[in-house]
Amino acid sequence: MHAHETTTDGVGSARGWWEQRYAERDGIWSGRVNAVLADVAGALPTAPGGGVRRALDLGCGEGGDVVWLAEQGWDVLGIDLSVTAIKRGSRASVSAGVEEQTAFVAADLATWETAARFDLVTASFLQSWPVEIPRAEILRRATGFVAVGGHLLVTAHAAPPHDDLPAAMREYRFPTPDEDLSALQLDGSWDVVAAELRPRTATTPDGDPHEVLDSVVLVRRGR
Ligand SMILES: C[S@@+](CC[C@H](N)C(=O)[O-])C[C@H]1O[C@@H](n2cnc3c(N)ncnc32)[C@H](O)[C@@H]1O
Repeated sequence: MHAHETTTDGVGSARGWWEQRYAERDGIWSGRVNAVLADVAGALPTAPGGGVRRALDLGCGEGGDVVWLAEQGWDVLGIDLSVTAIKRGSRASVSAGVEEQTAFVAADLATWETAARFDLVTASFLQSWPVEIPRAEILRRATGFVAVGGHLLVTAHAAPPHDDLPAAMREYRFPTPDEDLSALQLDGSWDVVAAELRPRTATTPDGDPHEVLDSVVLVRRGR
């Protein structure tokens, strides 16, 4: 398999690769909310008149962010390429008692469409290796899902998240905040709230703290 293949169909595709990754064990992620999302979403304004805000999580994995947002009062839709991840997300939302506020759909974000518009669209570590995805195109399409007055948050690994990387991942080119911002192809109706690197202390599965670097892009649709 070529390291920079971008197909999402057939054997050796991104879907196949992620399915295999999720099949390794139950719970490949921590199940906890990502730190950047918790910071950003926690500071967003509440809906006028106390209405329920809607969020969309792109590449939601096993649903940690979806469940957290629902617990904060959002109605949340999670999309992921992997059926296994989507099933785990649904299960996590039931365990947390937020299944009424959440929905999960298995789909390829390169082609997925919706007429719905969201107050928050978030993509946390929507990065794929060794089979790459059309990430810039997926991020550009994501701008179309944001409601007027809503936000789009793109959080990415800007550097290897740990030292023990498989060879294929060592070849992966991590995005800068400016590259992710450019990928959005924003017109004048958007405000850039943040496009920056944020260092963070993460914990390995063995419990050892280590520094990681996140790229954070937060934009707001003005009209
Ligand atoms: C590194 S994981 C991050 C998962 C989750 N957001 C988190 O922070 O734990 C990347 C996720 O993106 C999903 N993904 C990759 N390409 C995708 C695509 N084209 N459409 C939808 N999901 C995709 C993968 O299945 C995987 O669950």
